[in-house]
Amino acid sequence: MDLSRKLVSIIGTGKLGSAVALQVASREIADLRLIDIIKGLPQGEALDLGQMTAEQGADVDIIGSNEYKDLSGSDLVVVIGGLGRKPGMTRLDLQDKNEEIIRGIAEKIVEYAPKSLILMVTNPVDVMTYLTWRVSGFDASRVFGQSGMLDTMRFKYFISRALGVSTSSIQAVVIGEHGDSMVPLPRFSTLNGVPITDLLSPGQVAEIVERTRKTAAEVIALKGATIYAPAHGIARMIESVIKDKRMALCMTARLNGEYGVHDVYVDVPAVLGARGVDRVIELKLNDEERAAFLKSVDVVKTAASQLKSVKAS
Ligand SMILES: NC(=O)c1ccc[n+]([C@@H]2O[C@H](COP(=O)([O-])OP(=O)(O)OC[C@H]3O[C@@H](n4cnc5c(N)ncnc54)[C@H](O)[C@@H]3O)[C@@H](O)[C@H]2O)c1
Repeated sequence: MDLSRKLVSIIGTGKLGSAVALQVASREIADLRLIDIIKGLPQGEALDLGQMTAEQGADVDIIGSNEYKDLSGSDLVVVIGGLGRKPGMTRLDLQDKNEEIIRGIAEKIVEYAPKSLILMVTNPVDVMTYLTWRVSGFDASRVFGQSGMLDTMRFKYFISRALGVSTSSIQAVVIGEHGDSMVPLPRFSTLNGVPITDLLSPGQVAEIVERTRKTAAEVIALKGATIYAPAHGIARMIESVIKDKRMALCMTARLNGEYGVHDVYVDVPAVLGARGVDRVIELKLNDEERAAFLKSVDVVKTAASQLKSVKAS
C-alpha cells in the first residue's frame, strides 16, 4: 500500500481559494501549499487552517507562500488566482486581464511542478483551461477545469426544489460553456432514473434551466462572489484525483473528436482519476440538444481565438 501523502497546491488564496483550502484540510484530502501574490495572505491562511485542524485532529501539512518554487512536488495544482466578476460583468469580460495572469502561472507550474496535474478554476474557465494546456505543453488529460460540477449542483438544487425531494435523489447534467450559453440537459437529468421532463411541465423545466444559467450572476449581485458551492465542487474534483476515485462528473475537458468537436475545452461528462481525465463520456444528444451544444462550443471557440498569447485553431 502506498502510504505517502499527496500534495495539492492552490494558487490564489482569495475568497474561493481559501474556501477550497478549508474543505481540503478539514476533510484531510491532502497536504496543502497555498500560494498568492499578496504578502502575508497565504501564510495567514495556512496558520489559521492549521490551527483549525489541530482541534479536528486532521493530519495535514499546510504551508503558505508568495513563491512559486513552493509548488515543487505537487501532485495537483489548482489555479484560482486572478480577477473575479463584478456585478453586471460576464465571465468573458475577464478574459484579457486574466490571460496575462494565467499565462504567467502556467509557466511557473511547468518550471516547478512539471509532473503535476492542473485543475483550472479562474474565469472564463473554458478559455483559461485551453490557454494553460497550450502554454504548459502537458498532455490534455493532465489539464482540466471546474465548471460543470458547479453548474450541475445548481441545476440539481432548482430541480429538487421544484419536485419537493432531496437533492440526493437527483442526478443532473449540464454541458457547454461555463457561461450564458451553457446547456442544462433536462432529458438526462433524473429523479432516480426518471427524466425530469416526465415529472415537470415544459414551463417549469424552462424556468429551472434559465435560473441555472443566471444564478451565478444572482449570487454575485447579492453577496459579491460565489464561494461555498464552487469550493465544494472543486474539493470533490480534488478528491477524485487524489484518491483516484474515478468519479464521472461534468467538467471542462478537451474534446478531440468527441461530439464531432475538435480542439476546444468545454464542459462535458468525463471520468476523473489520479491520471486526470480518463475519458469523455458521449451522450446521445437529440437534434435540439446538439444544436444548443454546438452553439455553446462556438462561443468558447470564438473567445479562445481572441487569446493573444496562443493561436487557437
Ligand atoms: N470555475 C468556477 O466555477 C468559478 C467559480 C467561482 C469563481 N471563479 C473564478 O475564480 C477566480 C477567483 O475568484 P475569487 O472570488 O477567489 O477572487 P479573489 O479576488 O477573492 O481572489 C483572487 C486571488 O488571486 C490572487 N492572485 C492574483 N494574481 C495572482 C498570481 N499571479 N499568482 C497568485 N495569486 C494571484 C489575488 O491576490 C487574490 O488573492 C475568479 O476568476 C473567479 O471568476 C470560478
